[in-house]
Order: sequence, then structure tokens, then C-alpha cells
Amino acid sequence: MSLQNIKIGCLGGGAMAEALLSGLIKSGLAPGSLYVSDIRRERLDYLSSVLKINPVDDNSILAAQVDILIIAVKPSAVGRVMAEISGSLAAGCTLMSIAAGVPIKYIESFLKAPFGVIRVMPNTPCLVGEGACAVSSGTYAAAVDRDRASAVFSSVGRTAEVPEELMDAVTGLSGSGPAYMFMILEALSDAGVREGMSRDVSLLLSAQTMLGSAKMVLEKNEHPAVLKNMVTSPAGTTAEGLLALEKKGLRYALMKAVDKAAKRSKEISGSLK
Ligand SMILES: NC(=O)c1ccc[n+]([C@@H]2O[C@H](COP(=O)([O-])OP(=O)(O)OC[C@H]3O[C@@H](n4cnc5c(N)ncnc54)[C@H](OP(=O)(O)O)[C@@H]3O)[C@@H](O)[C@H]2O)c1
Repeated sequence: MSLQNIKIGCLGGGAMAEALLSGLIKSGLAPGSLYVSDIRRERLDYLSSVLKINPVDDNSILAAQVDILIIAVKPSAVGRVMAEISGSLAAGCTLMSIAAGVPIKYIESFLKAPFGVIRVMPNTPCLVGEGACAVSSGTYAAAVDRDRASAVFSSVGRTAEVPEELMDAVTGLSGSGPAYMFMILEALSDAGVREGMSRDVSLLLSAQTMLGSAKMVLEKNEHPAVLKNMVTSPAGTTAEGLLALEKKGLRYALMKAVDKAAKRSKEISGSLK
């Protein structure tokens, strides 16, 4: 769907809001249709001067004038801002929350009318337009709300709809996932240095290999095992490398990492349920 002529506001102008607003501008939206509020005057000044978007110094005034309101404050501040804005939301507004671990029911508990709520779990690669965003719909969310969410978050990466009960698993997989990937990249670049490469060359080769491999999975629509087999010739070098990874339990380690992070997410968000 087109977001032209739709007013979009971010409540909270931190790192994630900046990534989203930049992505929306890059995707062709006029900065004049974008709004931000923040308790930090310096963030409003920065975002309005760099992105040329509209600064608003009152959350309720922001809520009253936008078609899409994105709650982008830390999870601990969501209750406070919802209490502040719930009586001011413009008719037909879609409320989107990116606050990690904050359930849709919690947000809906503040509403005075049945607004469409969408919960989104983005990740840090949104900062470079390659985010992985999982999206869940609230009780009153209609097709228009889902379409709006898909359009907004497609501007900073790829989106997937998931039932809300999978959000802790999403947090463990794609939310925390960049850290797993960075650890793998650090180890690969150390390995290249150990073999005699300069750090720069080793890191470039490692990162480009991860980027290219992910792109093949996304664009060739093949199972990763099929693509892995394409690189693995009988009695060749890759087969030796894979043997070492199997011996040290790479698959188990990654599955366990997601499991542990998902459980931790459930513990953290449990207090709001
Ligand atoms: N960063 C990530 O990788 C990531 C990934 C997934 C989800 N998220 C979610 O995205 C949300 C935003 O994350 P972030 O990293 O962008 O946070 P952030 O940098 O702390 O940005 C939040 C901004 O909102 C401001 N704020 C706090 N209370 C406010 C209020 N009552 N009214 C208006 N503004 C207020 C904060 O000011 P103060 O600093 O003074 O409090 C800060 O400038 C979080 O809920 C987080 O769980 C982030």
C-alpha cells in the first residue's frame, strides 16, 4: 500500500525511530508527513534539522494529528505514554509498538476506543535498511492496519507476520540474532588473521560471505542445505570445515542460543502480562 498523504509519527525519537524515519524518507515519503515527539529537546532538534521532519513537544498533540503512531520508547515507559495519549488518538489511527516484550493486551488496556494495534519486533539492521521485523496484530486491527505496518517496516527491511505468542521466540532469533552473527563474524575474521590475512581483508571477506550467503537464501528460494551441498565437493576442503563445525556442535549452540534468549524474553515480559 502507498503511505503517500498519510501522516506518520514516532513517539520517542531514539535510535530505532531515527532508523524508521530515515527509511521512510529514503522510500520516498515527504519529510513533511513525518512527525516525532521526545522528552529530550536535543533529539527533537537533531531529528528536525537532519531529517527535516516535524518536531512535536507534546505526545498528546502528536497522537491527535497522525494516522500512524509508532510507540518507540523503552518498554518501561510504554505505560506512562499510553496513559498520556490514550484519550487523544485521532480517529482511524493505527497504533504500532516496537517496544520489546510489551504485549498487545497491555497496550489495548489503555485504549478508550477500539483502535488497531500492531506489535512489531524489529532488529538493529533496520539502521542500514536490512532489518528483520516480525509483526503481530491486535484485537481490533483490520487489514488496513496490517497493510500500513507492512508498508512502514518494509522501508527498513523485510517483514513477516507471526502470532503474538511467538514474539519471545522472535526476540531470541532475529531480535538477538545480530549479536550471534557479529560473534560469528568476529571469530571468522580472527581465523583469517590467524592464517596470515590482514584484519581488514579478513573482516571484509567474512562479512561479505555472510551477506552473500543470506542473499542467496532469500533470493534463490532454496533450502540452506541445498546451497551448502553446492559448496561441498567429495573429499574437498568444505567437507573438512563442516566436520569441525559438527564436532564442536555449531547447530546445537545456535539452537540453544535462541532457546535461552527466548526464555529470557518470556521472563522479562512476564511482568506486563
Ligand atoms: N534498538 C534496538 O535494537 C531495538 C530492537 C527491537 C526493539 N526495540 C525497541 O524499540 C524501542 C526504542 O528503542 P531505542 O533503542 O530507539 O530507544 P531509545 O534510544 O532510548 O529511544 C527512546 C527515546 O524516547 C525518549 N522518551 C522516553 N520517555 C519518553 C516520553 N514519555 N515521551 C517521549 N519520549 C520519551 C527517550 O528519552 P530518554 O533517553 O531521556 O529516556 C529516548 O530519546 C524500545 O522499546 C526497544 O525495546 C529496539
